[in-house]
Amino acid sequence: MSEARIIDGKAFAAELRGRIGGVVSELKREHGLTPGLAVVLVGENPASEVYVRNKNRQTAEAGMNSFHHALPAETGQDELLDLIARLNADPAVHGILVQLPLPDQIDAQAVLDAIDPAKDVDGFHVVNAGRLMTGTGKPLVPCTPLGCMVLLREYVGDLKGMRAVIVGRSNIVGKPMAHLLLGQHCTVTIAHSRTRDLPSECRQADILVAAVGRAEMVRGDWIKPGATVLDVGINRIEMAEGKSRLVGDVAFEEARQVASAITPVPGGIGPMTIACLLSNAVTAACRQNSIEDPVL
Ligand code: GUN
Repeated sequence: MSEARIIDGKAFAAELRGRIGGVVSELKREHGLTPGLAVVLVGENPASEVYVRNKNRQTAEAGMNSFHHALPAETGQDELLDLIARLNADPAVHGILVQLPLPDQIDAQAVLDAIDPAKDVDGFHVVNAGRLMTGTGKPLVPCTPLGCMVLLREYVGDLKGMRAVIVGRSNIVGKPMAHLLLGQHCTVTIAHSRTRDLPSECRQADILVAAVGRAEMVRGDWIKPGATVLDVGINRIEMAEGKSRLVGDVAFEEARQVASAITPVPGGIGPMTIACLLSNAVTAACRQNSIEDPVL
């Protein structure tokens, strides 16, 4: 079997951001509407700071308003809830994202559920999660699974009847991904760290989504020949001489010998997540102003 096609999420995300920029220009011109995204960061987690900086930069580059709220690590829950209430009430803010993880003194789900579901561009509010699960209404969909679906539509096409295995059961990726794949008529398995015989579960997959957060856990011989592999993991591993590098949850060099298409790390799913966040912010702004959802 020849080597897998490398799914270039970085290039695809750049193209998607270009299209989003075009829609934003049109919204400004035709409706006097500038979509606004507020990002809230509590504390000083270095990885979160990098993500948030990228989000803010790309929001501004797409022509949208970016509102940045950095709060100290010792911020209390009430203070954070007050900020969310102000952002909910602010008509210039169409999307609100609270970067996770939050410090221990804060009940993260209580904060996520305080966000107006119409502004919940992460899709983590129970109302959006419930809409996605039941296939009713129009949910805002979590950005990483949405990015995965956009790439699958582009690189695989019709998913009907395919077997999909997701390794990881988080509310951010695994669970919403399962519902999105079910919505496309896949047969879906959610596996996780305690699944018995994980390799043989994975070997069933036409579409394998790895989202466990364990460096290179999925090996080449876990993959069905010809499968499409989406690697959501971003793990930093230490190298010699104090150097480090980023790897996914999939052993890339092994997997590419077996799969028909695979996302690299970095440059695969990661850039798609932020592009989909911008897309959700534009969608939220349109819905809040009774403008038809943009086609992106
Ligand atoms: N932390 C890691 N991934 C995410 C995400 O998609 N959204 C938020 N808000 N925080 C995260």
